[in-house]
Amino acid sequence: MKERTLKIVDDANGLSYTLPVENGTIRAMDLRQIKTGPDDFGLMTYDPAFTNTASCRSSITYIDGDRGILQYRGYPIETLAEHCTFLEVAYLLIFGELPTQSELKSWVYDITHHTMLHETVKKFMEGFRYNAHPMGMLVSTVAALSTIYPESRNIFDAATRHHQILRLIGKMPTIAAYTYRHQLGLPYIYPDNDLSYSENFMNMLWKMVEPKYQANPVLARALDILFILHADHEQNCSTNTMRCVGSAQTDPFLSTAAAAAALAGPLHGGANEAVLIMLDEIGSKDKVPAYVKKIKEGHGKLMGFGHRVYKNYDPRAKIIKWTAEQVFEVTGRNAKLDIALELERIALQDDYFIQRKLYPNVDFYSGIIYQAMGFNPEMFTVLFAIPRTAGWLAQWQEMITDPEQKISRPRQVYTGENTRDFVPLSERGTAVRR
Ligand SMILES: CC(C)(COP(=O)(O)OP(=O)(O)OC[C@H]1O[C@@H](n2cnc3c(N)ncnc32)[C@H](O)[C@@H]1OP(=O)(O)O)[C@@H](O)C(=O)NCCC(=O)NCCS
Repeated sequence: MKERTLKIVDDANGLSYTLPVENGTIRAMDLRQIKTGPDDFGLMTYDPAFTNTASCRSSITYIDGDRGILQYRGYPIETLAEHCTFLEVAYLLIFGELPTQSELKSWVYDITHHTMLHETVKKFMEGFRYNAHPMGMLVSTVAALSTIYPESRNIFDAATRHHQILRLIGKMPTIAAYTYRHQLGLPYIYPDNDLSYSENFMNMLWKMVEPKYQANPVLARALDILFILHADHEQNCSTNTMRCVGSAQTDPFLSTAAAAAALAGPLHGGANEAVLIMLDEIGSKDKVPAYVKKIKEGHGKLMGFGHRVYKNYDPRAKIIKWTAEQVFEVTGRNAKLDIALELERIALQDDYFIQRKLYPNVDFYSGIIYQAMGFNPEMFTVLFAIPRTAGWLAQWQEMITDPEQKISRPRQVYTGENTRDFVPLSERGTAVRR
């Protein structure tokens, strides 16, 4: 088959260039040869927010936003959510293949035996203010792990990398649970190695004085499914942060802390918290039309709606809606579900949302489930960070082992002053200009 090329004619001088097209992309560096003269730096692309730029080649997660498809390593998310545990999926993301029974057994064993936190980390966490936001606590504590495991800087050694991956996936629920207990003023609970990943997380969250914590199996499975759905999502803001910070050869604890900080923003992982705040603000089903009208008039955004990549129903939102029904059979129905369903119904038949292809995303229903389980909205992004750690690490490892990757460093279009004469302070007058 003839290889696709792109012909560019520069109207400045009539010169033409033929650029190879590979995987639907041209190499931005191929544009640099397009110059108006020897002093010209060469053509660049301008793409604020990377809306049309591929920053890497990746074989981890595939999204077809127009058709609402999400796959990890070629497996549809629906199949994984139905048949796998989160740790099986984490293995798939990290290693590229589903584990055999014995591989899974040793993977689960290894993760389970890396759930404990060093006692100094516990002490570090005790120092947070009683009402500290759990994401602030999580980000700082993950960064602090870097001080406990200095060998993690040895990022080009595969065995060392693997060890830190086990530590991070193992310890994330422990840190998350500690942030929760800290806010409530409850004593920290140590991990229980007899329990599954999500059951142990529930144990560390909710165990009181009983000798052995018994997790509700429906809630444990629902949490596990939510973890699967949140495990990776290709080059989103936090994953891009993980790759960007990691490209400076920063250790995986600091890189993960940076990724988690990106996740904390309300336009990213913080959106599920924002959805609950929005549903509270709406208050009741009958107020939904007025709220939608306000949004259309440009007053804010419908949180949990819209996506940079999905221009169709987010496949994760469908599974979460189904999971919500299972959870509500145990916890009782969260009244906010009715407001959310009405919001979805009205928005999906409104021209404003239809034309812009705005559909519910993963965050629209997840918060409602989390709240029914007993989490306050501040914890929601922490619940997102636990499974996304597996995705961040898979992407980080792929980046570290990719010979084409270098330190991440975009260009800019400079819009400031040309070279100016310096004026000494004594000659700048006394006016206050801002
Ligand atoms: C996710 C999000 C950041 C994607 O942003 P984006 O790809 O930059 O899309 P844009 O902001 O360019 O949106 C395109 C248009 O849809 C509108 N729009 C996007 N999301 C909207 C929302 N949730 N409610 C109302 N209008 C929305 C924008 O105002 C814009 O309208 P315009 O063309 O008239 O200016 C954005 O949809 C958003 O802020 N959603 C709410 C937060 C959220 O749920 N985030 C979780 C993501 S998983």
